[in-house]
Amino acid sequence: MSLRVTIASLTLRHPIMLASGILGTTPSMLIKAYKSGASAVVTKSLTINPRNGNPNPVIVELRYGLLNAIGLANPGVENYLAECLEVKDDLSRIPIVFSIAGTKIEEYVEIARLISERGLGRALELNLSCPHVQETRLFTEDPKLAAQVVKSVCDVTSLPVFVKVGLSTNLIDVVNAVVKHGASAITAINSVRAMVIDINAKKPVLSSVYGGLSGPAIKPIALRVIYELYENFSIPLIGVGGITKWQDVVEFLMAGASAVQVGTAVYKRGFRVFKELVRGLQRYMEKEGLKDVRDLVGLAH
Ligand SMILES: Cc1cc2nc3c(=O)[nH]c(=O)nc-3n(C[C@H](O)[C@H](O)[C@H](O)COP(=O)(O)O)c2cc1C
Repeated sequence: MSLRVTIASLTLRHPIMLASGILGTTPSMLIKAYKSGASAVVTKSLTINPRNGNPNPVIVELRYGLLNAIGLANPGVENYLAECLEVKDDLSRIPIVFSIAGTKIEEYVEIARLISERGLGRALELNLSCPHVQETRLFTEDPKLAAQVVKSVCDVTSLPVFVKVGLSTNLIDVVNAVVKHGASAITAINSVRAMVIDINAKKPVLSSVYGGLSGPAIKPIALRVIYELYENFSIPLIGVGGITKWQDVVEFLMAGASAVQVGTAVYKRGFRVFKELVRGLQRYMEKEGLKDVRDLVGLAH
């Protein structure tokens, strides 16, 4: 039985990756995630300058997921790359995708250039859709701007460029624009802008008012986005949003994703989730008499 999938130039041992921002804030955590069973790992989104993020509280646990407004807290690209170099040998053996966030096109380009020069990553994922950082969000809502970022980044790197999109009304136009300008895959979706109110304090719970909703609450939305993108484009799709059980993985593959990423479920249950999902997927394939996981991709169309 083969679980191998290919996304642009990346061949993965199975379709289940670690999503950006989840326990992937240090390179050694990424290595641990891979050793625990993830087929590829995505870094926390890196910005040009270090960011402290928003003041607490930044995470609210909900029955049906998480609401977070971390505010892209990260050590900045140069510091992160320096940490990566310390574990370069281990990192070079795993498919690592560097996630990039910026407030201007030039920042995306500069970060992409720095990562490519160090020869560290296997792919870049452009976060054009952080729901609680205003400047980043704009990119996913404007097809021209999104296309410009992708084109400019592709000019300075030979790494495949994945574009991570969020929930927006003009998603088809945005994806159309980035596909034309060099995107190698689309990752969908980011967390969804949402909020919670504390009725005793009579105030929003998060210091930043709005945050990003993730976990089971957004799964049907993410699944719909993947299904719709598969109907409209032939570019590889990476599905993300609310995957907690192996059945969710199968659904995303059938909707048209070639691979999936898992975030909130790892946050809540730890790295053992990867092996559980892979085992469930394998058993399902055995039961169905399937020899190749790629035969599941798009099966529900
Ligand atoms: C705590 C937390 C931090 C996140 N940070 C990032 C980030 O830095 N960059 C990014 O592209 N997505 C980030 N995300 C979004 C996830 O990668 C993913 O798209 C989203 O959570 C939906 O997947 P899930 O339901 O499996 O968590 C973050 C999500 C959470 C919960």
